[in-house]
Amino acid sequence: MNTTQSTATLRALVVEDNPADVALLKAHIATAPPGWIELQTAHTLEDAAQHLRFERFDVVLLDLSLPGSQGLDTFRFVHERCREAAIVVLSGLADETVAREAVRSGAQDYLVKDGVDANVLFRSVTYSVERRRITQRALKLQAELEHARKLATIGRITAGIAHEIRNPLQIVAYSANALAKRLAVSADEKSVKDIERIRSAAVRGERFVQELLEYGGDMTLRKTAVHLGVVLGHVAEDQDAAADEGGVRVTFETVGDLRGVVVDPHRIEQVLVNLVTNAVKQTGEGGVVAIRCERDSPTTVTVEVLDMGPGIEPEHLEHVFEPFFTLRAGGVGTGLGLAICKAIVEAHGGEITLANAPAGGALARVRLPVSGAAEA
Ligand SMILES: Nc1ncnc2c1ncn2[C@@H]1O[C@H](COP(=O)(O)OP(=O)(O)OP(=O)(O)O)[C@@H](O)[C@H]1O
Ligand SMILES: [Mg+2]
Repeated sequence: MNTTQSTATLRALVVEDNPADVALLKAHIATAPPGWIELQTAHTLEDAAQHLRFERFDVVLLDLSLPGSQGLDTFRFVHERCREAAIVVLSGLADETVAREAVRSGAQDYLVKDGVDANVLFRSVTYSVERRRITQRALKLQAELEHARKLATIGRITAGIAHEIRNPLQIVAYSANALAKRLAVSADEKSVKDIERIRSAAVRGERFVQELLEYGGDMTLRKTAVHLGVVLGHVAEDQDAAADEGGVRVTFETVGDLRGVVVDPHRIEQVLVNLVTNAVKQTGEGGVVAIRCERDSPTTVTVEVLDMGPGIEPEHLEHVFEPFFTLRAGGVGTGLGLAICKAIVEAHGGEITLANAPAGGALARVRLPVSGAAEA
């Protein structure tokens, strides 16, 4: 047979009760390039169901007339059990109309047995598998689009609610603060504690709402060319001072020329603050959080934050960038920190990862394009 096929071997299931027809198919396939297709055979529907349950196929070659099942019933039975496989119906002249009906119901092609030769079989199977893959991809994209639409709607609703809640929360926090000061001299201990509880709950709520607005809000960047070492150096200093209370040091190192990096400095500061905050929380007293900022290629810079904490359990790693994923109990974390980092970094056309460092601790890595061409 004259063909140039170079892709991976196709896995096919032939569902056919007539041994002569199976033998004929095998004879056609024997003339195809070696490694093009690999056949399994099922003689009954039950047998086919078993194969489809436990194995993955690219294509099912299906005879519609089987013991105990005829025509479209046979097709429907197999179609319901095929997850990814294309179906090519094999029909006799007598049931060609039914075969066409099967194509309308989701089969990729049909072949009249008498007219099959090696070339016809090869073309039909190849195109059917390809058509099926294209359809699957289209369905997947459609589902993703639907999901994105839903998320966008939820985002808009959330932003609306967050705006409305932020003001009252600010008032509660402010008033509780003022009240606490005024009552500091005269109030009993219990009242002071109650007011402190109100204040800290309001502050927590306010922070949550602020993060929600940042995550769901507009990601327009105000980009400008900066010396990234200077911008991030300030963040490192502030974070070092803040971490001092818990006995953790934050160090900062730069490598290479970090001038002229085009970013939204405020947003990139925010990324580093979130990463360092996470790192400091995990690092015990006397430990160090090391920030390293490097011009690692003519077109990219990399910022790394390495901590001395316990690292991340492998089953949690794939979830850490999801909004609201947090392992900090008791409402301490909102789980939006890394989701915000990801949104900011991707809006800059960069990428962010979090992994366990070989020598222990977690390593967050942000890679950004120097020229910042991708305006969001
Ligand atoms: N450096 C780290 N080491 C170990 N685990 C980490 C580290 N950084 C993040 N994590 C894990 O990932 C989770 C998600 O982090 P993320 O910053 O998104 O949320 P959070 O810190 O819990 O809350 P917040 O919204 O206040 O930042 C954390 O709860 C923590 O379990
Ligand atoms: Mg965090």
